[in-house]
This record gives sequence, structure tokens and C-alpha cells, in this order.
Amino acid sequence: MSDRVRNFPLLAAELMPQCEALAAQYEERRSALLPLMHLFQSREGFVSPEAMRFAAGFLDLTPAVVESTVSFYTLFYRKPVGRYVLQVCRGLSCTLGGAEDVMAAFREKLGIGNLQTTDDGLFSYEEVECLASCDRPTCMQVNLEFLYDLTPQTVDGVLAAIRGGTSGVAPLPQTERPGKTWAVRQDTEVSEGEKMPGDTGVPDPNNAGGLGDRTGLIALDRIVNDDAALLGRSRERTVRDASAIDAVIREEDRAHAGH
Ligand code: FES
Repeated sequence: MSDRVRNFPLLAAELMPQCEALAAQYEERRSALLPLMHLFQSREGFVSPEAMRFAAGFLDLTPAVVESTVSFYTLFYRKPVGRYVLQVCRGLSCTLGGAEDVMAAFREKLGIGNLQTTDDGLFSYEEVECLASCDRPTCMQVNLEFLYDLTPQTVDGVLAAIRGGTSGVAPLPQTERPGKTWAVRQDTEVSEGEKMPGDTGVPDPNNAGGLGDRTGLIALDRIVNDDAALLGRSRERTVRDASAIDAVIREEDRAHAGH
């Protein structure tokens, strides 16, 4: 067991007043999930399985709901990452503005590929889908701080500023040494074995979506083609009619009543 895991209960106890304050800001406690995950990420450097399980218990959500929410956003890192997470946009506008060349320059200068971390643990690199700054291509985030109007020629300057401490972006805490890749397994760590059948067996569960991601197409294809695997009950619910939805709700109610 790592020091981080051993110390997690202490961290959770320390952050409990902040967690309570966040939950109190919302009419429904579950609405505090995203700020809660940001809070733990700011202390652990990533959103750990322990933090997700804590959030599930604290907000009365299932681990599957927490994990599926966290995995939706590239704002959350689900494995230990470098001190600086570089996320370059590969959306349509940025691609038209030259993102492919910018990405190639980052890969070459860093010596790593998508979803990888440099050996010194300083940089993690990811190519993500539209960062909602389409008017300033190519854009990227460094530890969630925006940089705009990038070209292959500006990449050296970005890396030099970070290395030299003049970028104005604070490094992430690193409570666990990152591995070579920060991709996650297909089955989740938190709600393992409970994925919807349409989402299992896809080529890359870490893809950020958009142009490079066929995950949704594959799931859709299975549904349209009536894959027998989808007919069974799943925790993440492929339901086909209203009565199936009712059955799921009744089962959830029974489970809650039994707690
Ligand atoms: S396409 Fe890059 S920010 Fe939208």
C-alpha cells in the first residue's frame, strides 16, 4: 500500500469541512460532485480511486455514477500524472488551424505520445477534443490554464517557460510517481465489471472523443444490430422500453430501502 493510499483517510478528514461547505452550496448534494473531485485532484495530483469512492459515499451516489462522470471530462486525470499536464486541442477548428503540426512538435520535443508521461515525471501529454476556444486555434491547456494561438514554432517557448518556472502555471502535486502511460484499463477501477456491454471491448476507452474516437460508433453499431449481449441486464442500463425503466427504478428503490 502506497503512502498516499495509507494517508488518504487523513486527507479526507482534513478536507471534510470543505466538502461539507461545497455540498451545502447546492440544492442537491450530488451537484457537488465536480467541485469535490477538483478539490481532491488539487491535493493528490489526480482523481484517485479512493477519492471517487469517498465522493460516492459522501454524496450518496453509486461508484459507477462517480466514475462515469469523472471519466467524461478530460479535466480530471484518473492516474498519477506529471507535474504539468499538457492537453492540446485536436478539434475541428484547431485542426484547420494547424493542430496536427503543433501536436507533432510536442511529441517530438517531449519524446512521448498521447497519454504518456516523460521519464522525469515532469510532463504528461494528451490530445483532447474541442476546448471551447475555437476562435484562437491552436489552443491547449497546461494544468487547465489556457494557451492560445500556438504554432510549431511556439512549442519550444512553451516548454522552456514551464521548465524555467516563468510560465505562471503552478505545478501539480505528485503524491504518487506516474507510470509511463496514464491510460486506464477498459474496466473501471472503481466499479469494475459493471460496464454496459456496448462499452466493453472497444479499442480505446481513453480516447477523448471526436474525430479520433470510434467508441460511440462501435456501441451504436451494436445497438442497431441488436447484439445479443445488450439484451441482458446491466448496471449502466441499456433499456428498451418504459417497463424496463420502471423495473430498474423499482429495483433501485428496493436497494435503497434495504440500506
Ligand atoms: S476546436 Fe480547438 S478549441 Fe474548439
